[in-house]
Amino acid sequence: MPYKYLLMTNTGLPNMRSDAELLDHILDHIDNNTTDLGDEEWYEPVEHYASQTRFDAERRLMRRLPIPFCPVAALPEPGSYVARNSAGVPIVVVRDLQGTIRAFRNACRHRGMQLADGSGCTKIFRCNYHGWAYRLDGRLEYVPHEHGFPDLNKDDNGLVPVHSVDIQGGLVFITQDEPVGPGALESLPKLLTDDQIIFESNEKVEEINWKLTAEGTLEGYHIKPTHPESFFPYGYDNLNVVEMQGPNSRVCYPFRRIEKLRDAPREDLSLDRMVTLVNRIFPFTSVNRLAQHYGVSFAEPESPTRTRYFNYRLTLPTVDGGEPSHEALARAKKDVAFLSDTGDLEDAKVVSDIQAAIGSGANTHYRFGRFESAIGHLHKNLALYLARLEKLEGNVIEEGNRTDSERIDPITLC
Ligand code: FES
Ligand SMILES: [Fe+2]
Repeated sequence: MPYKYLLMTNTGLPNMRSDAELLDHILDHIDNNTTDLGDEEWYEPVEHYASQTRFDAERRLMRRLPIPFCPVAALPEPGSYVARNSAGVPIVVVRDLQGTIRAFRNACRHRGMQLADGSGCTKIFRCNYHGWAYRLDGRLEYVPHEHGFPDLNKDDNGLVPVHSVDIQGGLVFITQDEPVGPGALESLPKLLTDDQIIFESNEKVEEINWKLTAEGTLEGYHIKPTHPESFFPYGYDNLNVVEMQGPNSRVCYPFRRIEKLRDAPREDLSLDRMVTLVNRIFPFTSVNRLAQHYGVSFAEPESPTRTRYFNYRLTLPTVDGGEPSHEALARAKKDVAFLSDTGDLEDAKVVSDIQAAIGSGANTHYRFGRFESAIGHLHKNLALYLARLEKLEGNVIEEGNRTDSERIDPITLC
């Protein structure tokens, strides 16, 4: 039986609320001075933020789940590629000449040189070391002085693809090795649309465990004390809508101006510019719908205390699905500048201060309250998948002692 039929769903809600449903739910909270509450608190061992063993397990899991690699918008034309590490493995994702998006291990089949670096557009991947050249569909096309390799079969020496590539929600998901389950793709919320364009991208390294950064985006309990002059004047104190879909979650932070929509027709209602929506795409990626743009951030954990972030800024969807206007682009850039100069710095200070105190011995666990249920959801699913990985790896170790007929299909372990 495929694993998708064996998984428990994590929520009674099959999908995130529509904007109209969200508006009514937010207005209820405003009128009653309430917020969304999870069922219980969550306790996460502090060790999980510092242990090499835990980090290694998270990285192995990352290779065996569908993990967002880049926005589809980063591959706008045939030959567009993005190369970077994912779970420590160099990967190149490329749109081939027929338009299919493919993902390969970024290593030449001669002596392993990486073939692509960063992003760009190319007709062929030519290795800079000895000149072997690969077509965009991975086939080994050309070997200089081929007579030196009398046993070489070019058909067997193309670029090595990852296990699978999925295109969903405007993101390219790669699964490097046989998956331990559907992960984020169990049920993915609506994310990016085709008309959104990337207007900025960057790469940043932070001396932070990736989970601290993720947690900092998944609750509004901190908005008033941490962001008293940046975000709080536009928003509310501890008023959020928290939704789960599969192992993913979405936290809504309404702006005060949303109250102007109280009597707006609900049909085709859009909350663009009225809310911030933080989507956590299980477990390492965030897709944030902000006031005037979208921010997408792909975390690449490099050690228990170090994370590389690949960040993209995209325009909002347009009403007619066409090109964004100059004015919309200018507003998007202004939005990015505001965040970079204010709230982002305030959040960065908090997480680096927590990171510095991890070894203080003050806490054996961090405590997440009922306002912080999206964080509990992330940890709960991470624990579930790590347990599944451990079980699977344990069985692989025992495999050597089994006969063929005794071997277990990994899917049935889910
Ligand atoms: S390593 Fe690529 S051609 Fe030699
Ligand atoms: Fe914050």
